[in-house]
Amino acid sequence: MGLLRIRTYPDRVLREQAKDVSNITGNTQRLVNDMIETMYAAPGVGLAAPQVGISENLLVIDVNSREEKKYPLIVLVNPVIMASEGTSEEEEGCLSLPDFKSVIERASKVFVKGFDREGKPVEIEADGLLAVALQHEIDHLRGKLILDKAGPLKRSLYKKRVFKKGRSE
Ligand code: NI
Repeated sequence: MGLLRIRTYPDRVLREQAKDVSNITGNTQRLVNDMIETMYAAPGVGLAAPQVGISENLLVIDVNSREEKKYPLIVLVNPVIMASEGTSEEEEGCLSLPDFKSVIERASKVFVKGFDREGKPVEIEADGLLAVALQHEIDHLRGKLILDKAGPLKRSLYKKRVFKKGRSE
């Protein structure tokens, strides 16, 4: 068990299309445990494997710190959004984009299929914060960040800030 280093923008791994997990091994289980620990320590409500430098379709979510105990800790392997409906706008942040927040438009309800950490098929129907978190983390697996969905002004200000900081360090 151990905390993993969270990759931040503009780390290139955040822009890769993650690969499906073909076999759940002891290494996968260790990675899942470390991702859960890292998510809680951050603290965050979700973490996708690319955020810790592993380009695999794997994510963990626990929205219980922010919402009533409606959903347990979720570990999803190879998740796919099968259907979505409605729209909602919520302010989101991201552990890979320190100090960045933006209101993001997403589907208000999603139906997601995938596998749990034992490789058993799971189906999740979600609304509220869990629906937002699922879409946010699945975006990470496709190399997408909330930075891309934010307005152009916000995006360019953040990029400027990040690159300025990079040069002065
Ligand atoms: Ni994120």
